[in-house]
Amino acid sequence: MRKSLSIVTILAMAITGGSILNAGTVVDNNTTKTGNGEQKEVKIGVVLPLTGPIAAFGQTSKRGLDIAYNSNKKLKNGTEVKIIVLDDRGDKVEAATAVKRLINKDGVTAILGEVASSNSMAMAPVAEKAKTPMITHASTNPRVTKGKKYVTRACFIDPFQGAVMAKYALNNKLDTAVVITDAKQDYSVGLSKAFKKAYTSNGGKILKVVRINSGDKDFNAQVSTIKSQNPKIIAFTGYYPEGALMVKQARAMGVKAPFIGADGVGFPELVNIGGKASEGFMYTDHFNEEAASSDEAKSYVKAYHDKYKKTADSMGALAADAYGMIVSAMNQCIDDKKAPTDKECVNSKLRSTKGYKGITGEINIDKNGNAVKSAVVNEVKNGKVIYKTTVNPKIR
Ligand code: PHE
Repeated sequence: MRKSLSIVTILAMAITGGSILNAGTVVDNNTTKTGNGEQKEVKIGVVLPLTGPIAAFGQTSKRGLDIAYNSNKKLKNGTEVKIIVLDDRGDKVEAATAVKRLINKDGVTAILGEVASSNSMAMAPVAEKAKTPMITHASTNPRVTKGKKYVTRACFIDPFQGAVMAKYALNNKLDTAVVITDAKQDYSVGLSKAFKKAYTSNGGKILKVVRINSGDKDFNAQVSTIKSQNPKIIAFTGYYPEGALMVKQARAMGVKAPFIGADGVGFPELVNIGGKASEGFMYTDHFNEEAASSDEAKSYVKAYHDKYKKTADSMGALAADAYGMIVSAMNQCIDDKKAPTDKECVNSKLRSTKGYKGITGEINIDKNGNAVKSAVVNEVKNGKVIYKTTVNPKIR
């Protein structure tokens, strides 16, 4: 049986003025009001995998979120924004439970999260049912928002990302591929499909699809299959823990073909765990600070360097953008003489976001709640991540 989420098992934090408090100090069902009846505070609930196998997703998200929050924690009418962060340990059941708790117990107006598409897909029906706006900063599977009125995302979707991977490979004359799919992740299953479609319709040939499962550590059997197929490229559509081990084992067994992955592998762990074997690993991503040219991106990158003394990654930038979009939606509600706690208003502003000047680029939300925006392609060179190119979405 899966462990259910309880106050004891979750790590709950409220960020107030930069300090982290226990959830107990902010959990309160009554909306605080000032004497004249105006809202004094508004709560945003955040669900992230801060521990567990994909903890890097949660930790990097939170770093970006902290920067965005600390530079923008008051709405234009003085209402204070409170954030309640819950750790779901990368588990979809806990992710869904966290959303219930944030809505029913904590009384949040909006939800930010998750990272892994499978977890966001578990959260979305809960938010939808409670008519509470949810924005995922990083989940790229189309099904996260499909048919939902209250779910939005700050990132592009996998049909676009998969096409960018496929075209980049084909432009480099890498026209036969083995695809590696993590059967346990909706993200990987969807991205593999998107890659295959774009790759074959542009002249590439898929030699084989090889399956793995998140949590696997030994890829001998899969690597032997890849070796026997002798592809020009290996399209890896999973997450960094398996990606790093896979490339390491492939190189150890003499596989020379380059790997191409996507946002799920773009973490320092790829190089730290993969070591020399990660050289030449290409991947699509949402943001690269080297390519950041807007004022929003530049000031975020500066704040990030000052605070954390490291490269500003895409995940943190996406979390910061999602937070900024919620705050902007709340401010627009104030302009319309509505309360920033008005979920219907906040949701409709989020869903109609146009020309939002984000750190990761300009964000326009389409009729399905998806962001239409550009992707970057990176490559590991000499143990560092090198920016290669930016690909813009087709403007239709
Ligand atoms: N796009 C991935 C998913 O949908 C999550 C992810 C985003 C991972 C960005 C890393 C970086 O599951």
